[in-house]
Amino acid sequence: MLEQLETLYKEAEAAIQGITTAEALQEWESKYIGKKGSITLMLRSTGQLPKEERAAFGQRANAIKDLLASAFTEREELVQQQALAQDLEEGQLDVTLPGRPQPSGGLHPSTQTFRELYRIWGDMGFLVYRSRDVETDEMNFSLLNIPEHHPARDMQDTFYTTEPNVILRTHTSPGQIRSMRELGKNGTQPIRVILPGMCYRNEQVTARSEMQFHQLEGVVVGKNIRMSDLKGTVTEFARRMFGKNARMRFRASYFPFTEPSMEIDVECFLCGGEGCKMCKYSGWLEIAGSGMMHPVVLRNGGYDPTVWSGFAFGMGPERMTILKHGIRDIRYFWGNDLRFLEQF
Ligand code: PHE
Repeated sequence: MLEQLETLYKEAEAAIQGITTAEALQEWESKYIGKKGSITLMLRSTGQLPKEERAAFGQRANAIKDLLASAFTEREELVQQQALAQDLEEGQLDVTLPGRPQPSGGLHPSTQTFRELYRIWGDMGFLVYRSRDVETDEMNFSLLNIPEHHPARDMQDTFYTTEPNVILRTHTSPGQIRSMRELGKNGTQPIRVILPGMCYRNEQVTARSEMQFHQLEGVVVGKNIRMSDLKGTVTEFARRMFGKNARMRFRASYFPFTEPSMEIDVECFLCGGEGCKMCKYSGWLEIAGSGMMHPVVLRNGGYDPTVWSGFAFGMGPERMTILKHGIRDIRYFWGNDLRFLEQF
């Protein structure tokens, strides 16, 4: 049997040398080392041998099977290379075809809007200041001149934590205090910052309101900063964001931390002020709340309000994204639905 095995081995080795096609190689494999191949069958009949011969035979047969298996792999590679070379020669493989693009992810629509906002505000000399999402009650309300009984403090609106007086910020305005304290250097330096970030409100989630949303706050503190600076700054921003001819409208409003306060509208860029569904037939779109910083807030930020003044605004990037792309439901933003995200 051992002799028979060696003969088969030599035969198989010789046979593989001449093989040039994948089909012939397959045939060779099933003939010798496949499930029903002759080497495999011999290996399986080891048990029929006299006891003392079994071990040596089995060892040799296994070794041969391994050798032939690696011969097979080697040959396979060679055959593939030859086939490729042949295809190239015959012109069947067009190496001038463009490659297949790899699928890649994209940026979230909110991230895209933020990047545009950073670029515009950055060009206008504003520094990005990152303030925290988890805030104290004091920063979020008291230091911003929001009195104890103010409705914004209502349990319905604010997410409280198990830690007393620790909440999720309901707006980016607490960053006003933090940026003034950190960058104002005890009320000696002017500042010009934007504060981007997520805000949280314990509200019923609907197509128009989410319990989490972004804001972009802006803070400017300096000497002789006036209402006209606020108007000029946001008008310049709107021109860069919505186009050279963007018209603005300012409406008196109220916020505890600004005085006077105003709501900022931009002329509807869809209908050009004619009135359409997007602007609810008013011709105007509200983009931000703003105002001159309240003396109490300036003082809480470390500034002397008789010497320093400033303005602040808070805008909603999601709103801008919704308007820009005609998105019908704000819940798409954090729904992680690829069918939505892949459109941007
Ligand atoms: N914090 C206000 C809000 O969430 C917006 C605002 C910011 C208003 C700064 C005035 C100044 O509605």
